[in-house]
Amino acid sequence: MPTFKLRRAGFLDLPAAARTCSLAFDDDVLFGRLIHPYRRSYPGDVDKYWYRRFVVDFWDWSHVFLVTTGPDAADKTKEVVTGFAHWSRIAPGWRENYRAGWGLSGLDPRRLLQPLCRLLMSFLAFVSPNRAASKEDELIIERSYNYLDHIWTGDRSESWYLECLAVHPDYQRQGQGRALVGWGLQQALKEGIACSVIAADGKERFYQACGFDVGPVGRSGEGEGNPLREVPGGLVFFHEKRGVVLPDRELGSWTYGHGVFDWDNWEKQAEARRHKMSLIDGFSTAPGTH
Ligand SMILES: CC(C)(COP(=O)(O)OP(=O)(O)OC[C@H]1O[C@@H](n2cnc3c(N)ncnc32)[C@H](O)[C@@H]1OP(=O)(O)O)[C@@H](O)C(=O)NCCC(=O)NCCS
Repeated sequence: MPTFKLRRAGFLDLPAAARTCSLAFDDDVLFGRLIHPYRRSYPGDVDKYWYRRFVVDFWDWSHVFLVTTGPDAADKTKEVVTGFAHWSRIAPGWRENYRAGWGLSGLDPRRLLQPLCRLLMSFLAFVSPNRAASKEDELIIERSYNYLDHIWTGDRSESWYLECLAVHPDYQRQGQGRALVGWGLQQALKEGIACSVIAADGKERFYQACGFDVGPVGRSGEGEGNPLREVPGGLVFFHEKRGVVLPDRELGSWTYGHGVFDWDNWEKQAEARRHKMSLIDGFSTAPGTH
């Protein structure tokens, strides 16, 4: 029986969500070591990184924030946030999200909230900078955004995408991560669209176990000039839209990089899948099979 609850996060949950991320990603190669080299000197400042991102995206109606909670050890009537997930609905444009019920109409005045919030956060970054962050790498993720545009196209152009997932270190391995991932997989299934994630190094098997059964189909550091090129991990996994079967991506320069993922084993499995597909194709085109 799970001892935690899962619910949509409210605006007031965002500070606790940010804290959870700071703790969970403390030793992560990207969010911890690369982006926040001074986190030991300014531990509280890492929260600013997460909080300021969440606050801006909170006002985008195609983003969903979830928390898992449990009773506070000191006062059982209170709850504490133990896990957090940030999902967004990727689509070619805002109209697809709007039609699917995840957006505001073009004239809705609430559309102003996000740009206003972004402006406010830029001001805060100026007056109260994140001292734990590296000046060169604080925005490294933003600088690498466009390198992966080719992945979310065709049958993958609409997708629930897991932007961020973190479970407080004291509450890991209790099924909370799986539950937070399950929301997006279920939602994608309901809407008949794909579901996707970029896995941190070493988290590939976790996502595969949760249901991301296709991939890697890309790497966050791929492409000439991508600033994430030397950062380990960042493999892209999918659960495809219903009825869609796409061929494995051929090995190539996109697979270059560091990390623990077992490419040899993946290539063997991809070869076996290709062989099976060719047998099916051969059977369905053989004379007398129609
Ligand atoms: C990754 C993370 C969210 C997993 O959360 P969790 O609550 O510990 O995971 P769960 O208990 O739901 O585990 C679900 C399954 O995945 C397995 N699993 C969990 N972490 C794993 C890991 N690092 N590697 C392989 N398998 C893992 C569990 O054993 C479990 O399998 P089972 O159901 O067969 O027992 C958590 O470890 C975390 O916050 N890590 C730091 C931040 C991070 O890396 N986030 C992901 C960024 S892409």
